[in-house]
Amino acid sequence: MAIRSATINIMERAARKAARGLVRDFGEVEQLQVSKKGPSDFVSTADFKAEQILRTELKKSRPEFGLLMEESGEERGDGRHRFIVDPLDGTANFLHGIPHFAISIGLERDGEIVAGVILEPIKDELYWTEKGVGAYVNDHRLRVSARDKLPECLIGTGIPFHGYGEHDAFFSTFAAVMPEVAGIRRMGTASLDLAYIAAGRFDGFWEFGLKPWDIAAGVLLVREAGGYVSEIDGGTSVFKSGNVLATNDKLHKPLGDILRKAHGSIRRPKSA
Ligand code: IPD
Ligand code: CA
Repeated sequence: MAIRSATINIMERAARKAARGLVRDFGEVEQLQVSKKGPSDFVSTADFKAEQILRTELKKSRPEFGLLMEESGEERGDGRHRFIVDPLDGTANFLHGIPHFAISIGLERDGEIVAGVILEPIKDELYWTEKGVGAYVNDHRLRVSARDKLPECLIGTGIPFHGYGEHDAFFSTFAAVMPEVAGIRRMGTASLDLAYIAAGRFDGFWEFGLKPWDIAAGVLLVREAGGYVSEIDGGTSVFKSGNVLATNDKLHKPLGDILRKAHGSIRRPKSA
């Protein structure tokens, strides 16, 4: 059985505490679906409450560490360590009563992600990883899939939506990948998309414009499970552009080639 370090235990404890509130609120959301106003205000509050619990718990154990949180932004710490937190990844699923969402916490040290936890509370799957230690779900070690033939591969993606993302860029890549693979899935929770690659459920994944809190834990999880993560154009600044290509160890070039050909060279934001 894998031994979890003190750091992982702290991150797990914080995630489990926040998850208890989210699961309770998720039960309420199902009741609220029928009202005309819908549950969106309620969900924003659930998201915010989860973030506050995570903040309190992480700060209690590691007061000197900085924080980057989806809702409340950056909080400076010792300048070396930072927790990168998505309190509710898969908000649209949660809002619509779809039981596929997660809490994601990555730990950055000196600019590099060194540990991560992704908790999927409904299935009670705790994905966790530490640099050099491997990737795990609960107590099982994870390894990316061995599939190398695209027509047998299941690929995850993220689809832009109202007011968000480059719709044309997505269409061109989607049209190119679709006829080559066994299927494409849009599950709606990027942290879990990456966890599913680590677990060998997905063989590859691409999405444009993800944020650091969507991917901090998942990127390390995939790498520690033997997979590859880069920008879609092959670059290494995934946390800057958010254009993510993650695959098992066989598909990185073939899937990347299809995406790059479809989209031309992906333009990076000026800051990258
Ligand atoms: C979203 C999810 C989704 C991805 C979006 C993210 P949120 O995060 O991870 O899968 O496609 O780009 O913004 O808003 O649910 O925390
Ligand atoms: Ca997110």
